[in-house]
Amino acid sequence: MIDLDSLRLEFRSRFGGSPESGEPRVFRAPGRVNLIGEHVDYNEGWVLPLAIDRDCCVLAASRGDRRLRIHSREFAETVEIPLDFSRRGGHAWSHYVLGVAWALGEIGIEVGGADLLVASDVPPGGGLSSSAALEVSSGLALAALYGASPGRTALARACQRAENEFVGMRCGIMDQLTACWGRRNHALLIDCRSLDVRPVPLDSARLRVVVADTTTRHALAASEYNRRRAECEEAVRRIAAVRPGVAALRDVTWEEIAPLAAAWPEPIGRRARHVTTEIARVHAAAAALEGGDYEAFGRLMGESHRSLDRDYEVSSPELNLMVELAEGLEGVLGSRMTGGGFGGATVNLVRAEAADSFAAELGRCYEARTGVRPRVTACLAADAAAEIA
Ligand code: GLA
Repeated sequence: MIDLDSLRLEFRSRFGGSPESGEPRVFRAPGRVNLIGEHVDYNEGWVLPLAIDRDCCVLAASRGDRRLRIHSREFAETVEIPLDFSRRGGHAWSHYVLGVAWALGEIGIEVGGADLLVASDVPPGGGLSSSAALEVSSGLALAALYGASPGRTALARACQRAENEFVGMRCGIMDQLTACWGRRNHALLIDCRSLDVRPVPLDSARLRVVVADTTTRHALAASEYNRRRAECEEAVRRIAAVRPGVAALRDVTWEEIAPLAAAWPEPIGRRARHVTTEIARVHAAAAALEGGDYEAFGRLMGESHRSLDRDYEVSSPELNLMVELAEGLEGVLGSRMTGGGFGGATVNLVRAEAADSFAAELGRCYEARTGVRPRVTACLAADAAAEIA
C-alpha cells in the first residue's frame, strides 16, 4: 500500500505548494496479471486478465508554463521536459508520461504543464504491467488537470498509442484496457478487436491468484516482443494470400491453417499455432471459470505455458522452473508465465485454503534450487484507475 500522507509531504517539499494549483490531486491505476490469453491481444483475440491490488499513484498539479516536471520515487529521479513532443523513442520511464501527453493531444485533449510525483508498487519489468499503470495514471491526471475526462476505452487507446508510437514498444491493448476497466473480485474477458470487456466473477472464497516474480529481467524483451508481432503479421500475410478477408490470426483456427503452415519457413507456423490454440484456450478457460470447473481452468494454464515455451519461445529457464515447482505443490490448480515473458513472473491459480502455504513453499523451493529469493505474493482483483483524492 502506498502511503498518501507521506506522498503529499514529499510533493510539497519537492515542488512547493503553488498558490494557483493548491493541493495536488491524486490518481491511481492498477497493475494487472493475465490469467490466460498471452501474446493474443495484438492478434485481435480474447484475453482474461485482472487488475490487481498494486498501483501506480500520481500526485498532480498544473503549472503556468508548458513544462512537465516529474519525480519518480522508484527511479529516484526528477526529469523536467518541455511539452514539445520532439523527443520520440527510448524507454526512459519519463517518456511514457510525455508520450501520454502527446497521445492525448492527438485525440483533441490539449494538456499544459504539470508537476507530477509518481510512486508505484508494481515492480518494473515484472510482467505485471507497471508501464500501463504509469501511462493510465498519468493520462488520467493530465486530462483531469486540463478539464477533460476521456472515456475509459479512449484513455486506454491513447495510452497504447503512446507506448507504440512514442516509446517504440508495439504492445497490444490488454494492459491499458485492464487498468481502465478492472473490477474488484472479477477477471475481465476482453475481445481485443471490438474492445468489449466482460467481467467474469472470481470466487474469492475458493480461489487465490498468486504471483511469483522470478526477479529476472531480459534486456532484449522489447525487440523480441516486436519480432514476435512481425512473425504473426507474416503468418497473416501468407493466410490472406489464399484466404482474402483474413485480417488477423483471430480470424482462423489452427485446424484450418495447419495444412498451409506446414509449408511455411520456421518459426512462422509455430508462432501461429501458439496464437490460434491460445485463443481457443481462453474461450474454454472463461467457460470453466464461469462453470466453477477450476481443475479444467488449471489444465488450460499448463497448456498455455508449454505453448508459450515451445511454440512462441518467450519463456525462460527461470519461468519454467517456477512453473515446474508450482505444479508439484499442494493446492495448485494451474501455473504459467504471465505477461510478455523473457523473465518476470508466473501466475498461479491456487485453492484459497492452501494459498499461504503454497506461496511460502514455492518461495522456499525456488530459492533452494537457484539461490535467488523470488517475490511470491497473493493478489486480489481490484478496481479500475480513478482519481482517489
Ligand atoms: C505485454 C504487452 C501486452 C501483451 C502481453 C503478452 O504485457 O504489453 O499488450 O501483448 O505482453 O500477452
